[in-house]
Amino acid sequence: MREDVAKILITEEEIQRRVRELARQIERDYEGKDLLMVGLLKGAVTFMVDLTRAMQRPVAVDFMAVSSYGSSTESSGIVRILKDLDESIEGRHVLIVEDIVDTGLTLRYILEVLRQRGPASLRVCALLNKKERRLVDVPLDYVGFDVPNEFVVGYGLDFRQIYRNLPFIGVLKPEVYARA
Ligand code: IMP
Repeated sequence: MREDVAKILITEEEIQRRVRELARQIERDYEGKDLLMVGLLKGAVTFMVDLTRAMQRPVAVDFMAVSSYGSSTESSGIVRILKDLDESIEGRHVLIVEDIVDTGLTLRYILEVLRQRGPASLRVCALLNKKERRLVDVPLDYVGFDVPNEFVVGYGLDFRQIYRNLPFIGVLKPEVYARA
């Protein structure tokens, strides 16, 4: 798996340090409030687990799955809910946890859907922000790292369902994409 990686953009240590910083910031911002963290399957699972584990306050967690890309590397703009939340979010403080915001289309759709359910507040925490590719404006309240306009894998992010368990964020060799 590692032999397919051309370069590491963000090391495991850098990720873990930033995750701890974000956890402290979220703890401060939500002091005295109940917090429901909503992870978007599957990419945000690794980040969600580390982030919640770095927090020293109680949090409720739930997950939602939407389809965005299928298995190609280009956004279709078509978003579908594959798995909805288990719990009601009405009147609750909700923090969406996302792996990467690229065009912003997926997040815009999710924000629209969840806003209609009447949460007390609705914010977004994204590990990675690929600003250059943004097609629609979406508010990001917490961002781990800005990344260049390259297809990245690792720490939850996949290419054709592989590479999610790499502990760092990296870019694959061109021949890996060509092979697929
Ligand atoms: P958006 O709707 O274009 O913002 O795409 C968001 C989703 O596309 C993310 O949650 C990822 O699942 C996927 N995605 C976007 N860019 C990348 C990437 O560089 N590597 C892996 N997945 C990506």
